[in-house]
Amino acid sequence: MPLTALAPMQDVTDLAFMQVVAHYGAPDYFFTEFFRVHATSRLEKHILRSIDENTTGKPIFAQLIGEDITHLVRTVQELLAHPIAGIDLNLGCPAPKVYKKNVGGGLLRDPQRIDDILAALRACCPGLFTVKMRIGFENTAHYDTVLSSVSRHRVDLLSVHGRTVKEMYRSEVHYDQIAHAVARVSCPVLANGNVTSAVKATTIIDQTRSAGVMVGRHAIRNPWIFRQCREQFSGKAITVVTLADVREYIERLYRATAAVHLPEQAHVNKMKKYLNFVGQSVDPTGSFLYDMRRTSTEVELFTVCDRHLLTNPQNEFALEPYPGVIARPNCETPTTDGCTLEEIPL
Ligand SMILES: Cc1cc2nc3c(=O)[nH]c(=O)nc-3n(C[C@H](O)[C@H](O)[C@H](O)COP(=O)(O)O)c2cc1C
Repeated sequence: MPLTALAPMQDVTDLAFMQVVAHYGAPDYFFTEFFRVHATSRLEKHILRSIDENTTGKPIFAQLIGEDITHLVRTVQELLAHPIAGIDLNLGCPAPKVYKKNVGGGLLRDPQRIDDILAALRACCPGLFTVKMRIGFENTAHYDTVLSSVSRHRVDLLSVHGRTVKEMYRSEVHYDQIAHAVARVSCPVLANGNVTSAVKATTIIDQTRSAGVMVGRHAIRNPWIFRQCREQFSGKAITVVTLADVREYIERLYRATAAVHLPEQAHVNKMKKYLNFVGQSVDPTGSFLYDMRRTSTEVELFTVCDRHLLTNPQNEFALEPYPGVIARPNCETPTTDGCTLEEIPL
């Protein structure tokens, strides 16, 4: 059966979110948000929690972003004391603040540096070592060189987001380039980018011959997607999700993301970032999204949820996002230095 993975997403794929996803049907693999690696970096405690307290029953890879080999190796050694499935290297983050430091997607401009990093990480990873990459920085000029390094250094699994760094998140996904990687490397490849549903997953796997799919934003919208993928892969009927089920998901997520010192309005704002995606499948006109974005208290938020989700609770939650219903971030809190929901033009 093809493999499934939840894509790493900064400020999203924390312990709480992974547990919620696992409740609806876990993917085969989880990946942490990235650990930043530099001369003075320390393992971020909240990311470590997603490893140390992982109760999903599924393996979790620790993702690193960085370019300093000494400190990447030091970080791997520190992580080996924790129950990780392996180490994953980020070669894709497109945030300018990140790529300007020549890390994440920025490294795709320097294939020799990537080769050196892969050699060093392979040598210090006794277990699995995986890479997540885009198909290039501005174009695919260095793609084959990087893919050769992936094979030469015996990377165990390659996830390919089928866009260049400059294409960010919204362009078409170049599935032909993912197919190219599948044909070229010796390890299994996970296809990533706009895997919107179980049916689309099958189409992408057929088209690319990949070993499976990695799903990001559409697992926020529809956390049943991994279970539905497995049903689709084995020829079974796909679980129907109703609006009442979605109401229950929202409440579960709200409870899971509550934190002791998180004020109500901040918590509601955090929820609105997830609901931006959920709203893409609630109604074709985006009226849930419109109302949801105007709430600021827990009571207001759940009143909107009840009105849109419990008036006709047995109505189906659409398997694909409704065309034209765009998940826009609500931009209350401006940026950090990574790939957060505030920064990604969705
Ligand atoms: C909010 C957000 C945060 C992300 N953070 C990371 C990250 O920490 N590491 C990484 O490799 N990719 C990160 N990505 C990229 C995703 O893993 C994935 O490659 C991308 O969203 C395309 O897949 P999708 O269309 O299924 O969302 C992030 C994406 C989003 C939307």
